[in-house]
Amino acid sequence: MKKIRKAVIPVAGLGTRFLPATKSMPKEMLPVVDRPVVQYAVDEAFEAGIEHIVFVTGRNKAVIEDYFDLHPELIGTLEQTGKKTQLEALESMLPVAGATSFIRQQSPQGLGHAVWCAREVIGNEPFALLLPDMVSFGGRGCLAETVDLYERTGGNVIAVERCDPSETNKYGIVGRGAEIGGGFEVTAMVEKPAPANAPSNFYINGRYILQPEIFALLGNQQRGAGNEIQLTDAMVRLSKDQPFFAQPFLGRMFDCGSKEGFIQANIAFALARNDMKGPVFEMLQEFVRSHERQEEAA
Ligand code: UTP
Repeated sequence: MKKIRKAVIPVAGLGTRFLPATKSMPKEMLPVVDRPVVQYAVDEAFEAGIEHIVFVTGRNKAVIEDYFDLHPELIGTLEQTGKKTQLEALESMLPVAGATSFIRQQSPQGLGHAVWCAREVIGNEPFALLLPDMVSFGGRGCLAETVDLYERTGGNVIAVERCDPSETNKYGIVGRGAEIGGGFEVTAMVEKPAPANAPSNFYINGRYILQPEIFALLGNQQRGAGNEIQLTDAMVRLSKDQPFFAQPFLGRMFDCGSKEGFIQANIAFALARNDMKGPVFEMLQEFVRSHERQEEAA
């Protein structure tokens, strides 16, 4: 079985759910507490043993490439002012030289098209895919769990989580087959099914291990929902020849591409930090009390 060495992180989308903030700033650079969303995905990838990350970028995303570069002026200033902790934190977040590639998608034609753009750098080996706006919280990183299952099953692996059964029409949903190695066999993949037609309430949460045969399928994939080249459509075709497995994530994923998920992530990450949890918890309690008083008065 081939080791998973490379990961694709697509960052070329328009982020329309987060307008107007995303008019001039990539949604992947919005901070959760004090780190950009994309940093969480990069840390999760390296934690899972990934050696090389391929970012698929687009117009107005150059700031992401700069963020993962060395910043000599900033380092010099931190050294001169004796800000050792900040300096060490910055250095620990920087990928090793040569461990990242940046590829242009040129125009955002959908997630499937973004993944296809990485084909030459990935080559003929299985790879990980992380959607950076989905931020993993709690326990081990979601990709590490997904890689663990892959090492037991081979094939293609998708990380999943349960959603409210009434909300299957918001997600890509998988059918649940026989249990295997802590996960299960995927019997179906359906994009946004109505609750009555959903094969389960396990949704695809943004972490994948895919075999390289996906690229040929993406290369001739017809446009699907939203007139975009959809990854799920190509995965459904690949599943006719290759097995797919699902790893239920033991933590929780926040959808930071949506306003609600972004605010939830900020609260969850702040409450998990010793230097912030006290004041943030007090503020939340005060908000709740004030909200309850208003409800009673109304
Ligand atoms: P999303 O569908 O969440 O991103 O794609 P989006 O299209 O930017 O967001 P909305 O719906 O308009 O608000 C998940 C990931 O795939 C990337 C996005 O940047 C995001 O990180 N993506 C999406 C691409 O790289 N290219 C695309 O054509 C589409």
